[in-house]
Amino acid sequence: MKFFLDTAHLDDIREATERGLCDGVTTNPSLLAKEDGDPREIVREIAKIVDGPVSAEVISTETDGMVREGLEWAKLASNIVVKVPMTMDGLKAIRIFSSQDVATNCTLIFNAMQALAAAKAGASMVSPFVGRLDDIQSPGMDLVAQIVKVFKNYGITSEVIVASVRGPMHALRAAELGADIATIPWAQIQAMLRHPLTDSGLERFLADWEKIRER
Ligand code: G3P
Repeated sequence: MKFFLDTAHLDDIREATERGLCDGVTTNPSLLAKEDGDPREIVREIAKIVDGPVSAEVISTETDGMVREGLEWAKLASNIVVKVPMTMDGLKAIRIFSSQDVATNCTLIFNAMQALAAAKAGASMVSPFVGRLDDIQSPGMDLVAQIVKVFKNYGITSEVIVASVRGPMHALRAAELGADIATIPWAQIQAMLRHPLTDSGLERFLADWEKIRER
């Protein structure tokens, strides 16, 4: 499973990249709003750091505007993926992008038929938001299982990005289900890679080495 960083924070992206833990990045307007500076410059910089897809989202709600904005994003770098919301206008825009070989990530997916429709329109990636479903007491990971199954049934090649990840169990379950990608905030990636037995084991090795160091 690929790890994407769900952030627009450059330091986090650099740190994850240095450790081989950043196969791509997903941004959205809310994540870009947390950072200082011109959002276009931030996305351009992310695309330079990351050797993988970088999603940048359109703001327009109508197809023409989505296509115009998406082509602007795509001009910034060759690894930009245009993020388009799952709406009827969005599907039309995805189809146009697909005919022009512009990669897309269909976002705000909350049921499996939305994912299937996005794939049929030509989306390169689909993003089910698991945490937001959990928030309304609807198991987000069940949706991922459904999408993975449906895509497998029909040999659909659109990648499944597990998004709105809120903890390590989301990421583990995503990998068990065979999702292509999980997009995760850097703090959560670090948290899921910590283990108390790793820490105490290392402490013990260092303490034992101290005993024999002067031999
Ligand atoms: O990738 C989508 C993600 O940024 C949404 O996460 O935590 O706002 O539901 P959240």
